[in-house]
Amino acid sequence: MKISGNCILITGGTSGIGRGLAEALHAKGNKVIIAGRRQNLLDEVSGQNPGMIGVAADLGSSAGVEAFAGEVKARFSDLNVLINNAGIAGLEDYTADSVDLSRAYDTIQTNISSVVQLSAALLPTLRAQPHATLAVTTSGLAFVPYPPGPVYGATKAFMHNWLDALRVQLRKTQVEVLEIAPPYVQTELGGPRQASDPRAMPLKDYVDEVVQILESNSAEKGEVLVERVKPLRWAEKNGEYDKFLDMFASMHD
Ligand SMILES: NC(=O)c1ccc[n+]([C@@H]2O[C@H](COP(=O)([O-])OP(=O)(O)OC[C@H]3O[C@@H](n4cnc5c(N)ncnc54)[C@H](OP(=O)(O)O)[C@@H]3O)[C@@H](O)[C@H]2O)c1
Repeated sequence: MKISGNCILITGGTSGIGRGLAEALHAKGNKVIIAGRRQNLLDEVSGQNPGMIGVAADLGSSAGVEAFAGEVKARFSDLNVLINNAGIAGLEDYTADSVDLSRAYDTIQTNISSVVQLSAALLPTLRAQPHATLAVTTSGLAFVPYPPGPVYGATKAFMHNWLDALRVQLRKTQVEVLEIAPPYVQTELGGPRQASDPRAMPLKDYVDEVVQILESNSAEKGEVLVERVKPLRWAEKNGEYDKFLDMFASMHD
C-alpha cells in the first residue's frame, strides 16, 4: 500500500497496536479513523492527533457490526484501507468439569465473525477506490497453537487461512490483502502486566517496524512479518513446531 494519502479505518484503535498504528499512519499524512468501545479513549487519541476521527463501535455482536458498517459507508465513501485489528484473548481450561466458554464465544465473535462481516460490508467501498487494502491483525499464534488459550490461537489460524483464500478471490481487483501477524508485544491484551513484560516486544519498536515494512512495500506474499515473529511464522517449515508447542505447553502445566 502507499504510505500516505489514504483514508484508513483501524478497528481497535483505542489502545495497543491499533492506537500505535493509527498515530504512526496519521503522522505519515493519512486520514485515519479509529474505532472502539471506549469513548474516553476515542476522544483522547483523536484529541491528541488533530484530524483523526473516532467512531464508537461495538464489534461484539452482529447487530453492532452492522450498525458500525452502515455508519462508515455513509460517512466515509473515500475509505480505501481497512485494518481489522480489534481483538480479545482469553484462556480456557478443558480439564475442568465445567468449562466456562463465555470468553471463548466472545473471542470468536470479535476475532472472526466481526472481521468477516465488516470486511464483506466494506469491500464494495474498497473496490470503488483506485487502490485499496484490506488487512487483518492475526498473530504468531496463528502458526503454533497456544495451549493455555486454545480458542484465541485458533481464531488467528482461521483468519490466516481466510486471508489466503480472500487474497486469491480478490487478485483480479485492485484490493490488496495483508496479514499483519505480530509477535508477543507490550500491550494490555493479556492483562496489565503484559504492557511491561520484558519478554514482549516494545510497542513502539513493533509499530516502527510495521510502518517500515508497509513503506518499503516489503510484505512477504501479503504478510507483514517483523523479524521477531518469523521463528513462529516459519516454525513448521524450520522443524521447530514441537519446540515452540512444548514451550507454550509449559505455560499451561
Ligand atoms: N499484544 C500482543 O502480544 C499481540 C500479539 C499478536 C496479535 N495481537 C493482536 O493485535 C490486535 C490488537 O491487540 P493489542 O495487543 O493492541 O491489545 P489491546 O490494547 O487490548 O487492543 C485491543 C483493541 O481491540 C478493541 N476491541 C476489543 N473488543 C472490541 C469490541 N467488542 N468492539 C470494538 N473494539 C473492540 C479494543 O477497543 P475497546 O476496548 O475500546 O473496544 C482495543 O482497541 C488484536 O487482534 C490481537 O489479537 C496482539
